[in-house]
Amino acid sequence: MPIQFDLARPGSLSPDEWRGIQTIAHDAYGEELKHRTQGEIDYLTAWTEPERFYESHVHPNSEVGKRYNPDQSYTRPRMALAIDGNDTIGFGYAANNVSGTPLQRTIKLLGTSKRYLWLREFAVQSDYQRRGIATHLARMLLMSGSIHQPATAYIWPDEIPFLAAPLRKAGFKPTGEQKVAIYGPDSDPVRQVRMLSKSVGATVTKLAR
Ligand SMILES: CC(C)(COP(=O)(O)OP(=O)(O)OC[C@H]1O[C@@H](n2cnc3c(N)ncnc32)[C@H](O)[C@@H]1OP(=O)(O)O)[C@@H](O)C(=O)NCCC(=O)NCCS
Repeated sequence: MPIQFDLARPGSLSPDEWRGIQTIAHDAYGEELKHRTQGEIDYLTAWTEPERFYESHVHPNSEVGKRYNPDQSYTRPRMALAIDGNDTIGFGYAANNVSGTPLQRTIKLLGTSKRYLWLREFAVQSDYQRRGIATHLARMLLMSGSIHQPATAYIWPDEIPFLAAPLRKAGFKPTGEQKVAIYGPDSDPVRQVRMLSKSVGATVTKLAR
């Protein structure tokens, strides 16, 4: 049976279903980041804190001031799922993101030029990778946005080097970087690069080629 795809609201999934999604992320990152310890993978994917993983996806603003900068707001969180038979085998997660003072954020939410479609996270089970599943999940999430919206994605080029190339091909360009302790407060911070596409519409067109 071919892989099925579905769009879902994060809040429509139960905590148990979210634990399944978290397992996909935990296992996929574990396979990808073999140079990292199990403890580092567990921290990256909040493995020992399933309630926090659930909360941070269903209510992404719960992480503002913690994992995310204090001047950010997230709206319309949504996810795309890849399903084989009865099993979810991959997911992508996105939300709208505005930044600034509370008043600036309110104004930005009304327009599209500073309301970013933030592609937060993707994971596909290792035995299903390299079949275009993440690309299709990204396409679905982008198409759920407004065509004039810019899109952002954050990558860790020293950890997962191959992601820059498909993002560049899709029209994303690096616009800044910072160091982030993704493996825990006592770990060495890694480079995190912000990638920006000027418009969702242009990127969807490029993905279609
Ligand atoms: C990143 C990830 C989601 C990609 O899933 P996928 O379904 O295999 O991706 P696609 O098949 O759509 O690949 C798209 C392109 O990405 C690049 N790519 C994907 N996996 C790659 C790999 N292992 N090595 C090199 N390039 C790779 C290729 O350019 C690929 O296009 P191609 O197959 O035509 O050459 C998957 O590898 C994964 O779950 N990794 C662990 C978690 C992670 O790194 N998430 C991303 C950060 S949030």
